[in-house]
Amino acid sequence: MTTASAPTGVASFHDILRIAGCRHHFPLLRQLVNGKPLVYFDNAATSQKPQVVIDAMVRYYETENSNIHRGVHYLSERATQAYEGVRTKVRDFMHAEDQREIVFVRGATEAINLVAHSFGRRYVHAGDEILVSEMEHHSNIVPWQILCEELGATLKVIPMNDRGELLVEEYERLLSEKTKIVAVTHVSNALGTVNPIKELVARAHARGIPVLVDGAQAVPHIRVDVQDLDCDFYAFSAHKMFGPTGVGVLYGKRKWLEEMPPYQGGGDMIKSVTFEKTTYNDLPYKFEAGTPNIGGGIGLGAAIDYLHEIDLNAIQQLEHDLLFYATEKILTIPGVRIIGTAQQKAGVLSFTMQGIHPHDIGPILDLEGVAIRTGHHCAQPVMKHFGVPATARASFALYNTKEEVDAFIKALHKVIEVLG
Ligand code: ALA
Repeated sequence: MTTASAPTGVASFHDILRIAGCRHHFPLLRQLVNGKPLVYFDNAATSQKPQVVIDAMVRYYETENSNIHRGVHYLSERATQAYEGVRTKVRDFMHAEDQREIVFVRGATEAINLVAHSFGRRYVHAGDEILVSEMEHHSNIVPWQILCEELGATLKVIPMNDRGELLVEEYERLLSEKTKIVAVTHVSNALGTVNPIKELVARAHARGIPVLVDGAQAVPHIRVDVQDLDCDFYAFSAHKMFGPTGVGVLYGKRKWLEEMPPYQGGGDMIKSVTFEKTTYNDLPYKFEAGTPNIGGGIGLGAAIDYLHEIDLNAIQQLEHDLLFYATEKILTIPGVRIIGTAQQKAGVLSFTMQGIHPHDIGPILDLEGVAIRTGHHCAQPVMKHFGVPATARASFALYNTKEEVDAFIKALHKVIEVLG
């Protein structure tokens, strides 16, 4: 976790040095874009991949590729072992109690849809309420909206203040016997806010209400311990944490997963099938119909190993320093407004420039080799709250540097020269 207002000082000098040297692990970062050294500040959309992740996936396809859980031959057993080994790594990475609580999915979006579909249809009824927050990504709004429309339930919204912090007292007021689940993001992709998940979970649990956490933006930045958070579900994608696209994880407490019906039907999720009746497989396979993204899973395992090597505490310190530095610098530019000034922030800097549409900022920065994202960031309610159609967003990862922030600031001055 980082704050934009004060250094935290958690990582050792040795750790910081180790991170500083990690940039060369990412081959893509070596290229020029428009004749300029690439400054990749679009990490909240997707992160770049270290060579070890790329190599692990190539090695898998070159030497182990086979379908899992089904074959009795050498390759299938090797692939199964490798894939199930990743499940153990994920369990340890999240500090889950049991690897049956780790369900592989396509990404955070599918994880949330799985819970909305399966938990929702089992436990939510007409007249019930589902609580999300005003800062959610569309992927943690729309699946619940679909469910509410189908069942006649109501979506309620935890409001936030103008810094982009959830109003915890309002949250408390919204919790009631009608609330069947709370679905809230750990880190906001549009604002960078780090939410007090442990407190939100404790308040919901005091009324017996389960909590799903969208961790897509948290896992590359924050050490996540699902037992400590005590959340009921936790969703994330591999591609934002230096792994490949198309694979992600749903953590769910066994007590829920055991009771929940399957999400999709197909191969591997059954014990037996007749035309009269199908019995379902044990956890977690009950939720894993069809051949999964095996190569992607292997890449996720390599990404977890990589993060262990680097040390998440050191990453937090580095990103904190970068955010603090970039925040100070950007505020020296006339007409800049930062959207999202929470006390607890991860490495996301969303902003607008007076008189310039955010969509016009991106292409000029691109000419300078600087990649950021502009738009509503799949969080239109956040844009509405702040009265803006879109923002420009720089988002940092462990390989970014202060020199890159300087190049970004210089490119923003260019924007003013051209459009201001
Ligand atoms: N949700 C991703 C982002 O924030 C794509 O950019």
